[in-house]
Amino acid sequence: MNPVRKAVFPVAGLGTRFLPATKAMPKEMLPVVDRPLIQHVVDEARQAGIEHFIFVTGRNKGVIEDHFDRQFELEMTLLERQKHKILEYLNQDLPVPGSTSFTRQQEPLGLGHAVWCARELLGREPFALLLPDVLVQHQRGCLAQMIDAARDLPANANIVAVEEVPHERVDQYGVVGIGERRGKMFSITNMVEKPTKERAPSNLILTGRYILQPDLLEILGRQERGTGGEIQLTDAMIQLARTQPFYGFQFDGRSFDCGSKIGFLAANVSYALARSDIAPEFRAEIKKILGEVDD
Ligand code: UTP
Repeated sequence: MNPVRKAVFPVAGLGTRFLPATKAMPKEMLPVVDRPLIQHVVDEARQAGIEHFIFVTGRNKGVIEDHFDRQFELEMTLLERQKHKILEYLNQDLPVPGSTSFTRQQEPLGLGHAVWCARELLGREPFALLLPDVLVQHQRGCLAQMIDAARDLPANANIVAVEEVPHERVDQYGVVGIGERRGKMFSITNMVEKPTKERAPSNLILTGRYILQPDLLEILGRQERGTGGEIQLTDAMIQLARTQPFYGFQFDGRSFDCGSKIGFLAANVSYALARSDIAPEFRAEIKKILGEVDD
């Protein structure tokens, strides 16, 4: 398929499951260890070779734009205090000038609508979509794995990352039907949003990483409302699947739904335990807490 150069990050949601933490602060700025969720996801896109990072923001989300900019006062203070290592660490994260764009979704009308708000910036080429509240922990990021695996697919292919969940939980997710399989990639026969256990075509769910063709934006432009009165991404993908191939990709790594409290807390534990600078002390603290709770 054609190279994927652009990625869109929808960050305009209200984050109601995290109130009051998200009353004045965007959910996407909640830290997993010492990096905001959005930084983890941008890192993943950068590792996959993405060159243009497009953020769909909303009211009260200005701090996300600031996060990807220089902070001269802070830099000066760090310099005066000889904190060269932290300064270097901060500078590593700065995007290349001109490689970020920010557009606004004026009302949170749904994920599909957020993606559509980026249409002028996305243009007519395939693009990646990464949901910032989903983290996938693996040495090779999920999007890079998808792009590696997509090389031999047709130019009009759409790819969605999928993972298995227990059958009892399929009713909370978008679920895909499995067709012909080649290794971790398979053709998708159908997609159903939040099916009952009986109606679910499999127990493979959409995980928050997509490579999509620009034709999706035209479908989203029809502004058709789905569940909850929102413009749903899955509804538009189901329509696009009538004319273009969709593939599912079973990635390596563990995903965390950081939009939920349990997923977010689990991500913090898992990412902290993977950090050699803090893992030994953190492990000891956890053991102590668990010991005290069990008593
Ligand atoms: P979620 O539905 O998980 O996020 O959307 P939310 O609505 O912010 O959270 P809750 O359910 O109220 O707690 C997944 C991603 O899509 C973005 C969100 O910011 C989040 O990163 N999103 C969602 C938008 O940008 N616009 C929308 O209209 C909806």
